[in-house]
Amino acid sequence: MFDAITEYGVTGRAVSQGRLSLNCWNPRDYTHDKHRTVDDRPYGGGPGMVMKVAPLEDAISAAKQQLGEDCKVIYLSPQGKKLDQQALKQLASRDKMILVAGRYEGIDERLIEKQIDEEWSIGDYVLSGGELAAMVMIDGVARLLPGVLGDENSAEQDSFMTGFLDCPHYTRPEKLFDQSVPEVLLGGDHEAIRKWRLKQSLGRTWLRRPDLLAKETLTDEQKALLEE
Ligand code: ADE
Repeated sequence: MFDAITEYGVTGRAVSQGRLSLNCWNPRDYTHDKHRTVDDRPYGGGPGMVMKVAPLEDAISAAKQQLGEDCKVIYLSPQGKKLDQQALKQLASRDKMILVAGRYEGIDERLIEKQIDEEWSIGDYVLSGGELAAMVMIDGVARLLPGVLGDENSAEQDSFMTGFLDCPHYTRPEKLFDQSVPEVLLGGDHEAIRKWRLKQSLGRTWLRRPDLLAKETLTDEQKALLEE
């Protein structure tokens, strides 16, 4: 699964440039039975299985041996703190981390208490495994690392970096489906374009995510732009 990160796009480039490196430890490689069992029955019964403790614990230990005992261990689960852009920024400032992806109903609570430093969720929905959640986190972090995005500015302009939703974007042709590109974007007045984009961002945020407006304030630069 993780080839999607290392082989393609922005994250693939981050890896080939040596700005990001990724290692995987598969709990199955830390089993000792014929079936390479990584799940076990839950105490108390009920549907679903729990991650078998020993293979997962050994996989985490192997990762720590390589990365250092001080390396923070993050568990991806719907019970974790909700990931947002601010959290990604903080995570991107760290030089290493171990991400634990669970399957089935999750991992034994005592292993969480002993081995897990932080628990993060990528949203209020349930996936069949933590791998995709880990990949979301890795992707979100990778594109914030210095030099990973071609234009240093482009992460800064993202939705959520500014605190507001992104403005609409247009490319050729100038007329498409009976609609023209907004006039201001064709004029080359960069100040007017910045103002238009900010207004679009604010308008969209107001319409689609008013909850974000309640949290954000405009920077002095944005205020000045709107007052012109
Ligand atoms: N594993 C399953 N669902 C998840 C979610 N929403 N966030 C993080 N890890 C998960």
